Amino acid sequence: MSKKQEKSLYRCASCGYESPKWLGKCPECGLWDSFEEIAVLPREAAVRGMGKHLPVSPPEVQFLSDVQLDPEYRISTPILEWDRVLGGGLVPGSLVLIAGDPGMGKSTLLLQVLAALSTSQRVLYVSGEESARQIRLRAERLGVADRPIMLLTETSLEAVLDVVHSQQNRVDILAIDSIQTVASSLIEATPGTVSQIRYCADRLLQLAKLSQITVIIVGHVTKEGAIAGPKALEHLVDVVLYLEGDPTHAFRLLRSVKNRYGSTNEVGVFEMKEQGLQEVSNPSQMLLAERPIDTPGSVVMATVEGTRPLLVEIQALVTYSSLALPRRTTIGFDSGRASLLMAVLEKQLQLSFAQNDLFINVAGGIRLTEPAADLPVCLAIMSSSLDRPLPSQMVAWGEVGLTGEIRGVGYSLLRLTEAMRLGFSEVLLPASTAEQLRRESVAKSAKLIGVKTLKDVMRKVFLS
Ligand code: TYD
Ligand code: MG
Repeated sequence: MSKKQEKSLYRCASCGYESPKWLGKCPECGLWDSFEEIAVLPREAAVRGMGKHLPVSPPEVQFLSDVQLDPEYRISTPILEWDRVLGGGLVPGSLVLIAGDPGMGKSTLLLQVLAALSTSQRVLYVSGEESARQIRLRAERLGVADRPIMLLTETSLEAVLDVVHSQQNRVDILAIDSIQTVASSLIEATPGTVSQIRYCADRLLQLAKLSQITVIIVGHVTKEGAIAGPKALEHLVDVVLYLEGDPTHAFRLLRSVKNRYGSTNEVGVFEMKEQGLQEVSNPSQMLLAERPIDTPGSVVMATVEGTRPLLVEIQALVTYSSLALPRRTTIGFDSGRASLLMAVLEKQLQLSFAQNDLFINVAGGIRLTEPAADLPVCLAIMSSSLDRPLPSQMVAWGEVGLTGEIRGVGYSLLRLTEAMRLGFSEVLLPASTAEQLRRESVAKSAKLIGVKTLKDVMRKVFLS
């Protein structure tokens, strides 16, 4: 190969920005000293790497109207929450990314899924993170040690591909745990860098598409955020699932943030137990199991994760503070938003929190990000501050504006139905929504308390 063909390219290890020259500072993400040299693959290596797939005749064009919409074949499992998030099961030949913080349970979930799949599919589990012994121990804990799962502890991408292509090991499902540990010898970068994980994921994508092998890759969300993390892969893969939860709680949400074959609104709910991740079919009941009754500061909110309604308990504690700068501590709720709501409460209800510490906690390790949590959070703060408990059968939701107005949010019927299903009979909600919901049959036995402003809330809940 002549010298001319070899070219250098520099890529930012943080965001992947490419430049023909080395740069001290990345113009894309602003990071200093983040450029690393990558070799542009010589043609020969590229052809070898791309699975000898070069088109010889021009591809065929079809009319959009001629495209057949056959129902997609899905590989389903007995793990219903997994299938639900995927939109009915794995699609053969797809590339699926399971992302999440280290320790969240990705390997556990993967092994459980592979065990379930191994009864009908040939499954190869490649781990670059743990020894065969450690995986066997985990499999025993999960009660799946006897399943026909082929295991390979390997970090070389080429070695993995050789095994997959070899005749005696026909593979339907290939799992890579994790993408940060595999590396290709064709790329001169250390494992876990953006160049490596992008290249490896790209090769795995081609394997999936050309050989109709379903590939599941695990990706750790790194502490630094996006650096060499799953974000760098999201555009490339077919499906991105995030396994989320508070590490100090057992509750786990499996959320699809990208799905070429289904909705991204699905959420699977699991609980981490001694024997691995157990499906939770009634999460609201589980989340409310330890709720104190008739206690000031405790409010039940009807929230929606994806399209799934969940009842969660929000707690607020307002206490006297001897600090010059009182504390504002929140768990599971944005602290900036909490400060904003306190300011609105002070202005609208002539309350003063200048001498108070405020703590907010969302039970069960749930993170509330939707504006519908505003009203329940205000309600919890008011309840604790006034030392008045709320009716134990009350559920609330609604957004609070800067002038103290209560605004409508989406999925009202879903929230109401879930609240009624769990035996709640009083609902505090935006007045506009209350009007609409009164026409629904499920609202017949409910007491809907529509509120327009925070003053309204004070009057109807605490002064009546
Ligand atoms: P793991 O699947 O190794 O997480 P990840 O692959 O995302 O890094 O599991 C992490 C935690 O789960 C670990 O601290 C132990 C716990 N765990 C259980 O509680 N029960 C179990 O049955 C298993 C296998 C793990
Ligand atoms: Mg793991």
